[in-house]
Order: sequence, then C-alpha cells, then structure tokens
Amino acid sequence: MTDQVYRPAQRALHWIIALMIFTLIPVGIWMSNRGEANLWDGLTNSLYSWHKLFGFTALLLIVTRIVVKLRATAPPYPASMTKGEVSAAHAVHGLIYLLMLIVPLAGWAGVTAFPALVTVGGYNLPPMPFVPVNRGLAETFFFIHKVAAISLAVLALGHIAAALRHLIVKKDGVFQRMWPR
Ligand code: HEM
Repeated sequence: MTDQVYRPAQRALHWIIALMIFTLIPVGIWMSNRGEANLWDGLTNSLYSWHKLFGFTALLLIVTRIVVKLRATAPPYPASMTKGEVSAAHAVHGLIYLLMLIVPLAGWAGVTAFPALVTVGGYNLPPMPFVPVNRGLAETFFFIHKVAAISLAVLALGHIAAALRHLIVKKDGVFQRMWPR
C-alpha cells in the first residue's frame, strides 16, 4: 500500500490531457471520415478547425507536463508490486509520453506542409519551423498522425485497464496517486 501521491499540477495536467485526447480521437476520426466522403460543409470545417486548435493546445500542455515530470520525482510504487510489473508500467508510460508528442507534432507538421493552418475564428496556427509546403510530405505526416493516434488509443486503454486493476483488484493505493482530491 502507498499513500504518497503525485503533485497537484501533475494530477491536474494528467486528467485535463486525458480528457482532451479522448475528445480529439473520436472528433479526428469523425472529421476525417467526412473529409474522405467529400462532405465539405460547415460542420466538417468546424470539426477540423476545433481539432487543430484543441490539438495544438494539447501539445502545449503535454510539453508542460513533460517539463513538470522531469523536474519532479514520482512517488514510489508499493513494495507489493513485482519488478516485472514496475518495468511494464515504466515501458507503457514511456511509450504513451512518446506517442503524446509524436501525434500532435505530426498533425502540426501535416497542416504546415499542406498548408491548412487556419483554425477557429480565422485564427492561424504558427507554421512548424523548417517544414516546407509539400502535399506529398503532408500526406506522410497525416499517415504518421493517424497510426500514432490509433496506437496511443490502444495503449491508453491498456493503461486504464491496469489502473482499474490497481483500484479494484489489488487495492494498493496506486490508482489514488493520480486521482484528483
Ligand atoms: C494529442 C493530440 C491529437 C490527437 C489525439 C489527434 C487525433 C487524431 C485522429 C484520431 C485523427 C483521425 C485520423 C484518421 O482517421 O485519418 C486525426 C486527424 C487529423 N488531425 Fe489530429 N490529433 C491531435 C492533434 C492534432 C494537431 C495538433 C493537429 C494540427 C494542428 C491535428 C490535425 C489533424 C488533421 C488535419 C487531421 C486529418 C488528417 C487527414 O485528413 O488525413 N491533430 N487526429
């Protein structure tokens, strides 16, 4: 059993970013399907605009979260966890962090290369530095964006299952380390 918890800033960022990602993924799939079906109406354009603005905001929060994480030490795991469980947790968390960077960076690079930087209310995102305008390159970035986003969704589901196992089966306080209070 552990009673040490993550810092309030880390817990707040964890839940805000989780909510944003679980909104961005279905909206991303919905708008892409409408785009592929050539349904370029007001709804599709709004979905794209909001997805880009929300996704870029998520990128800024994710970078903030990584900086906070690098400056803080994580609370220790309970002694009841095996070495294998701790290594698996570290591996999955590391991959989730990597994908949380790759997904929005690839989306931003894609809209820079396309170019399609306009978002809500005509507000333009800044172009990603050093990315040229090139349709073929944009398609490659969007492909990476899609594959990484689906991999992120799969890993996040595994992460949720593991967290619920700690809460319901193991009852070892690991879930509560990240729960808001
Ligand atoms: C963590 C943040 C993000 C997540 C989880 C996410 C997720 C997704 C998903 C699941 C799709 C659907 C892929 C498909 O089925 O083809 C998508 C599409 C798209 N996303 Fe994101 N996204 C994020 C950030 C961004 C950012 C920052 C931008 C741009 C500034 C962006 C721009 C786009 C665009 C333009 C598409 C359509 C791509 C196409 O038409 O092939 N996304 N996103």
